[in-house]
Amino acid sequence: MVRPGHLPLLALALAACSDDPSLPADELLSAQGLFLGDGHTQEPAPGVVPFDVISPLFSDHTAKHRFLAMPDGAQIGYAPRDSWSFPVGTRLVKTFGYPLDARAPSLGERLLETRILRLDADGWSVHTYAWNDTQTDAVLTVAGKRVPVEWIDENGALQSIDYRLPNTNQCLACHGERGATAPLGPRTRQLDRDHDYGDGPVNQLDHLAALGLFTSAPDAAGEREHLVDPAAPAAGSVELRARSYLEANCAHCHRAGAPAESSGLILGWEEQEPVNLGVCRRPFSAGNGAGGRTYDLVPGEPDASIIVYRMESTAPDIKMPEMPTQLADARGVALIREWIAGMTPPGCE
Ligand code: HEC
Ligand code: HEC
Repeated sequence: MVRPGHLPLLALALAACSDDPSLPADELLSAQGLFLGDGHTQEPAPGVVPFDVISPLFSDHTAKHRFLAMPDGAQIGYAPRDSWSFPVGTRLVKTFGYPLDARAPSLGERLLETRILRLDADGWSVHTYAWNDTQTDAVLTVAGKRVPVEWIDENGALQSIDYRLPNTNQCLACHGERGATAPLGPRTRQLDRDHDYGDGPVNQLDHLAALGLFTSAPDAAGEREHLVDPAAPAAGSVELRARSYLEANCAHCHRAGAPAESSGLILGWEEQEPVNLGVCRRPFSAGNGAGGRTYDLVPGEPDASIIVYRMESTAPDIKMPEMPTQLADARGVALIREWIAGMTPPGCE
């Protein structure tokens, strides 16, 4: 069952004032025992395992920190392709922040929110903690929130955004409705990469196995199916990188049982049918979103493809992904353009 973290109204009102010492402790992130100190440096507490994904979801240039916290002695049911099965009590954690200066990571980050997916006896529940201005703690919030932020990007330019913390109903658009709320990142194809836990890079799956966290051993390294890093040209062909990008940025809605299922545009890693991927496919839900173009994807012609038009748009009723981000991902668009430009034979019909 889907159960957004619920709060009595009074608690909601209090939560707006994030430094209030009278807040019940269980509404504070610090009470969750996930981090060392006040959590601002995102150093995990003992037993909390950090992880990265191969192909991240673009979220308006935020930096992200991901963690897995398992109950003592509990194990994950490993699966080579499908989602892993987690034991009750599992918490998956993701913190969003902006680097103060992307050229100097040691200056730290302005943390915005820490999201938690927790597996309860009746299914996954969603929780969002909003970091306070003084960055000493984060407070449970249900209603979402806007936070004006400034940061210096990798070119030294000052950037600003009215960052939007989603409300807890919005989580369900991507993490699944119909009683099927579930994690999206932790599966073999996304986690089969290296991470530095302090002693140099090691494969994350091998690390989790060594910690005894899997019920059965993962396949040998060479036999695992995995995505490739869309941002690293050396990681794989343009097609593999583009498909990895679509898997992480679009497929959670563009798949069976998700909000964009009715569009018929299916963008998951395993999809093989060109027409389902948009090739020479007339949009189901054309309207405004088509930008005068006829097909979702025209091989060889990115400028005639609705996919590109919608990824480049920042108009709320046109832009893809739909929400809650506001910016277009210039690098992602460039990759999808390159993929479409290289498709043969060109054209439709
Ligand atoms: C626009 C779609 C989208 C929305 C909305 C969204 N998520 Fe996610 N979330 C993802 C994707 C995709 C991943 C995996 C990729 C990544 O981490 O970059 C993810 C990862 C996570 C993770 C890390 C574990 C995992 O499943 O990979 C947590 C925890 C999480 N989300 C919680 C939340 C919560 C709580 C909300 C609502 C406040 C929320 N998310 C809203 C798409 C979304
Ligand atoms: C949060 C959910 C969500 C995410 C994430 C998302 N979409 Fe969509 N998309 C939808 C919904 C819902 C529709 C149908 C309504 C509409 O056309 O606006 C749609 C429709 C579309 C259409 C029109 C398809 C047709 O044939 O009618 C295209 C093209 C599209 N999306 C591309 C993308 C791409 C590319 C991505 C990733 C970069 C993406 N979307 C991510 C929800 C999403």
